[in-house]
Amino acid sequence: MKAVVITRLGGPEVLEAGDVPEPTPGPGEELVRVEAGGVNFADTMAASGGYPGTPKPPLVAGREFSGTRVSSGERVMGYTQWGAFAESVAARSALLWPVPMGWSAPEGAAFPVNFFTAYFAYWKAGLLEDSKGARVLIHAAAGGVGTAAVQIGKLLGAEMYGTSSSDEKLSRVQKLGLQHPINYKKQDYEVAIRDLTNGEGVDVVFEMLGGEHVLKSVRCLRDFGRVIVYGTATGQRAVLDVGSLYAKGASVHGLWLTYISQKQELMRQAWQQLSAWAAQGHLRPVIEAVLPMEKAADAYRLLLERKNFGKVVLKI
Ligand SMILES: NC(=O)c1ccc[n+]([C@@H]2O[C@H](COP(=O)([O-])OP(=O)(O)OC[C@H]3O[C@@H](n4cnc5c(N)ncnc54)[C@H](OP(=O)(O)O)[C@@H]3O)[C@@H](O)[C@H]2O)c1
Repeated sequence: MKAVVITRLGGPEVLEAGDVPEPTPGPGEELVRVEAGGVNFADTMAASGGYPGTPKPPLVAGREFSGTRVSSGERVMGYTQWGAFAESVAARSALLWPVPMGWSAPEGAAFPVNFFTAYFAYWKAGLLEDSKGARVLIHAAAGGVGTAAVQIGKLLGAEMYGTSSSDEKLSRVQKLGLQHPINYKKQDYEVAIRDLTNGEGVDVVFEMLGGEHVLKSVRCLRDFGRVIVYGTATGQRAVLDVGSLYAKGASVHGLWLTYISQKQELMRQAWQQLSAWAAQGHLRPVIEAVLPMEKAADAYRLLLERKNFGKVVLKI
């Protein structure tokens, strides 16, 4: 079968579309014929050797997909750690979900990572039950997870502040429901948050940059606020002085979908809510570009050069 192979560790140039043997499903797995694969920031990290738990190359790339369940012909979307950018994937049955009615294959492939991660960010923030008026700062609001977080925040009634490097991206996120755009190229986001909240700060920050931004995000909090840490897009280890948490009774929480996806009951509850919102037409993945699998390297470059708004998808 055809697949996008990480041939060695490196940048997008290490990806090659080639022939590999069809996978054999293990216990708890089944075969899915793949139609589309969602490209994630994590895929760029897996290719360069920076994603924990990824086997050594050669390895089939891709962690989310949509396609057809071989056993039943049902249209499904699914989550895995690698192997999704191929004509067939051996996927865990527990991590396959029906594609919502009316969604295209690329939309299905763009759903799992972004929407489960964004959902669990609100869960970790304690905002799923009561978030009316809660202030949430969403870093990279125009990215894959960011656009999902804005859609969910709108449903929950949150007051959202979102950062991006581009006014154009920010105006598109505003159309999704973001109330307070912050262009961090033009203004320090910590200063912007202080100005926009009368010096009070926000209840929650969704933080995926790493480095100095963890501490900076703590400084954006008001009393008893939480920073949900879920990425290191800068490539720098988080800087955190635990003492900075005392003053406001603040806390920092980690979130990793790779780990949470093994918790079946949590995933079931999340899907129950996400699928209901999707069926009501409240959620829809935002897709910037759909490229053929042979152009996987270009797709990775779009992410690395921060040119994507929402998601980039590969047609398999
Ligand atoms: N923990 C988890 O389970 C989990 C799950 C999914 C994603 N993540 C993490 O969440 C982050 C976003 O993922 P995604 O798939 O939504 O990515 P994405 O769509 O590519 O969004 C990344 C965006 O981050 C912004 N950014 C700011 N500083 C950056 C920097 N130094 N390098 C690269 N990007 C920078 C850019 O937007 P602007 O130009 O608009 O600022 C960029 O477009 C990544 O760090 C990813 O690893 C974690």
